[in-house]
Amino acid sequence: MTDYVIRGGELGKARLRVLAQALWPTTRYLLNSAGLSAGQVCLDVGCGGGDVTLELARVVGSVGSVTGIDIDSTKLALAQQEAADAGITNVEFRVLGVDQLRDEAQYDLVYARFLLTHLRDPVAALHRMVKATKPGGVVIVEDLYHGDIIRYPACPALDQHVRLYNQVVRLRGADTEIGPKLPELFRQVGLRQLQLSHVQPAFLEGAGKQIHRITLENVAPALIAAGLATEAEIKALCAELDHFAQNAHTIMSFPRVFQVWAYRD
Ligand SMILES: C[S@@+](CC[C@H](N)C(=O)[O-])C[C@H]1O[C@@H](n2cnc3c(N)ncnc32)[C@H](O)[C@@H]1O
Repeated sequence: MTDYVIRGGELGKARLRVLAQALWPTTRYLLNSAGLSAGQVCLDVGCGGGDVTLELARVVGSVGSVTGIDIDSTKLALAQQEAADAGITNVEFRVLGVDQLRDEAQYDLVYARFLLTHLRDPVAALHRMVKATKPGGVVIVEDLYHGDIIRYPACPALDQHVRLYNQVVRLRGADTEIGPKLPELFRQVGLRQLQLSHVQPAFLEGAGKQIHRITLENVAPALIAAGLATEAEIKALCAELDHFAQNAHTIMSFPRVFQVWAYRD
């Protein structure tokens, strides 16, 4: 069901940590708006390094619990260790693809961030997420639209990175512009009364400004394997992205993040 294009394991987890730190304010606002509260039982689908999973566990507290599932056993083992180090005991990580998810009506809140964009069949995944949700529970998805990343002034290296990223993800049958399609996908799996928001954090400095270079480094093996770029070309692009990011007079944003949620009948 997936052919995940970004490097996993320890390097993949480090990338997700940078992303999670920059996005936590907007993700937290979304989760609160959708009704996250103490005592709930939650599922984080395609949880990666568990950054959001652990935050959910903190909020739901000892009466609630959180399960994170992902196909990357290395990231999950690191996340489990982090939970243990932080004394968080109400979280469980399972190595499981969303296509293998068989839980039925078990969770108050089912969440996925930046998972559907990587799947050949996002509707099937969403369908499983809905089935896992209790009646009255909420399904929440955050996903990307790579069409209009803000950069100022012009940054040809960023344009080339986005072109390459789009090409390699599409070669795997996935969709880098799934964000605005989410409401329609929600309707296809029977969800109604949808809530929609979108955010696009932009940066003058800090880790958020590194995310495109870090992503490029982590899709490099896939780009080289597909014959879309050479190692030398990627190295040069990374250097240009770094140069642009280090200049405090430039602006660089994330791709636009669409946030959609709905309650199961
Ligand atoms: C871009 S990362 C996002 C991780 C996490 N949701 C976050 O926001 O930090 C996408 C994650 O989806 C996982 N993944 C890809 N295909 C999957 C599948 N079929 N089932 C479950 N997880 C999958 C990858 O291993 C990766 O950890």
